[in-house]
Amino acid sequence: MSPAEPNPRRNPVVAIVGATGAVGVVMAQCLEERRFPLVALRLYASPRSAGRMTAFNGAAIPVEALGERSFDGVDIVLFSAGGAISRDFAPLAMRRGAIVIDNSSAFRMDPAVPLVVPEINAEAISGHKGIIANPNCVAIIAAMALWPLHRANRIRRVSMASYQAASGAGAAAMAELRQSTEAHLADRPYANRIFPHPYAFNVFSHNTAIDPATGYNDEETKVMRETRKIFDDDAIRVTATCIRVPVLRAHCIALDVECERPIAPAAVREILAAAPGVRIVDDAARNHFPMPNEASGQGDVLVGRIRQDVSDPSGRSVALFVAGDQLLKGAALNAVQIAEYLVTAS
Ligand SMILES: NC(=O)c1ccc[n+]([C@@H]2O[C@H](COP(=O)([O-])OP(=O)(O)OC[C@H]3O[C@@H](n4cnc5c(N)ncnc54)[C@H](OP(=O)(O)O)[C@@H]3O)[C@@H](O)[C@H]2O)c1
Repeated sequence: MSPAEPNPRRNPVVAIVGATGAVGVVMAQCLEERRFPLVALRLYASPRSAGRMTAFNGAAIPVEALGERSFDGVDIVLFSAGGAISRDFAPLAMRRGAIVIDNSSAFRMDPAVPLVVPEINAEAISGHKGIIANPNCVAIIAAMALWPLHRANRIRRVSMASYQAASGAGAAAMAELRQSTEAHLADRPYANRIFPHPYAFNVFSHNTAIDPATGYNDEETKVMRETRKIFDDDAIRVTATCIRVPVLRAHCIALDVECERPIAPAAVREILAAAPGVRIVDDAARNHFPMPNEASGQGDVLVGRIRQDVSDPSGRSVALFVAGDQLLKGAALNAVQIAEYLVTAS
């Protein structure tokens, strides 16, 4: 290669599969805002979106229908179009020589696939065999607050309860929350299409199937398994209850954490204040704690309500409340950070 030619490892051609989706749109925004050093961006979605123009770096890029030739000349592919598309097309992209960063759950628990949150286990990226998986959004947001504590005072057990936004279920779910809220306020009937229950002014258990053997739904099972894989610690005990709330963007999670040794709220605050990608929002005097409206559009995970869990007299347990933009750190931003490692490490 002559010095004038772009180096595909440092100046890659990047593709987004699912470019019109809730996450795909934010992936392109992250690439632009973080000045990712790409030489070209290709955008793919279903045939329904072919020809739609997307603004990127001052130009207009057409969305193309995903097909067998989509990965010719592409170096890095960000997949965000659901597990079935990833399972069908990621092997094809790899055969064409591209590295896949997959935002679906298709490959996350495959032992050969690194499951990466760069602030936690960036070193796992170099062991990839063509695919790197982005974890579940609740798992990422919780892990951002838990990992610094785990390093300082090993976590033995975590109990979490999530409060999950509509956008976690995609663009159509956001539309359902908006439309059903308008209908409710106008006293009009609304037939929900995405969720099994009315979403406006309601709260319900996460819309994934329950495993009859365990009683946990799919989302909860992903969070529990993926936390152990990201932390590379099978001993950590995790339980989760995942709930949908009528919020458009950003998930909240209540965390109850039991450590190996006694831990004080002041120590938790100090550890998390120094953690990358975490911001303390813990103003008890003003009753100002993490909220989805303040987490939306932010790369940082907000952490507050830091207090001793008085139900554990040993002093080894603390309670926290976190809010994180699951379209950003829970999906698009995390994937782009992984891509940044690929180009800087090569
Ligand atoms: N939303 C989140 O917060 C979040 C967080 C973590 C992980 N994820 C995962 O990210 C993935 C995308 O989620 P999302 O929320 O962005 O969903 P979404 O808003 O429903 O978007 C789905 C995307 O996939 C495309 N697509 C659908 N069928 C396709 C096909 N046959 N060929 C090519 N593209 C196709 C859609 O294109 P059209 O517009 O043309 O239909 C759209 O761009 C899912 O695997 C999800 O589990 C989502």
